[in-house]
Amino acid sequence: MSGGGAFVRFEQVGFSYGDGPEVLHDVSFDLEPGTFHFLTGPSGAGKTSLLKLLYLAQRQTRGAIRLFGRDTASLSRLEAPVVRRRIGVVFQDFRLLPHLSAFDNVALPLRVASVGEAQIRQHVGELLAWVGLADALDARPATLSGGEQQRLAIARAVVARPDLLVADEPTGNVDDHNAQRMMRLFQNAHHYGATVVVATHNAALVERYNYPQLHLEAGKLSILPAAGSA
Ligand SMILES: Nc1ncnc2c1ncn2[C@@H]1O[C@H](COP(=O)(O)OP(=O)(O)O)[C@@H](O)[C@H]1O
Ligand SMILES: [Mg+2]
Repeated sequence: MSGGGAFVRFEQVGFSYGDGPEVLHDVSFDLEPGTFHFLTGPSGAGKTSLLKLLYLAQRQTRGAIRLFGRDTASLSRLEAPVVRRRIGVVFQDFRLLPHLSAFDNVALPLRVASVGEAQIRQHVGELLAWVGLADALDARPATLSGGEQQRLAIARAVVARPDLLVADEPTGNVDDHNAQRMMRLFQNAHHYGATVVVATHNAALVERYNYPQLHLEAGKLSILPAAGSA
């Protein structure tokens, strides 16, 4: 069968919400393990929709998606969450839990995975220091700045050491300094082995970094070479 070992493979994928018009058309691409891509395109082009297919929040309406060597359509109800846990997601609206502290927000995926508390304390402490929130362990998300909330969301996305890390417009509402800081966190996760996809419509950001682009225009994908040099 084609694509047996594909890490990520979209084959002629089409997608529509319910009975609505198709928003992704014949999208095909491969992601090799260890790569870093931007996902670009204007607002409404389909970036968020493509990411939702990638992290199994939606199902394609036609075509095939392979993740970590598996055809996602063949995953059982028990298998899908196991595959999903290999993917870290930074949501556009963060989705931090407001009643939990910064520490507990990041610890949650590990607690769900039954990791021991001693290990959680060490690992989460290190991660929060890594994102510059060592002094905010007890803070509720609402008391943090926008940039801090985004870094907290990144810490939560990487805490379980995902094989695939996807971020939806993570630099959307932050200034240039915070956008670069965030990019350094993604680069760091990349160096530790994660395959990374960062959706953005920030052309200046894309031009600054030397990563190829999955580029969407009105639901059609093309693959563009790296634009930048860093
Ligand atoms: N939940 C939804 N239900 C119906 N249509 C949607 C939904 N989300 C997005 N769309 C439509 O899908 C298209 C692609 O949107 P989206 O994936 O959010 O693009 P982008 O992230 O690039 O801005 C748009 O036409 C948008 O209106
Ligand atoms: Mg979007």
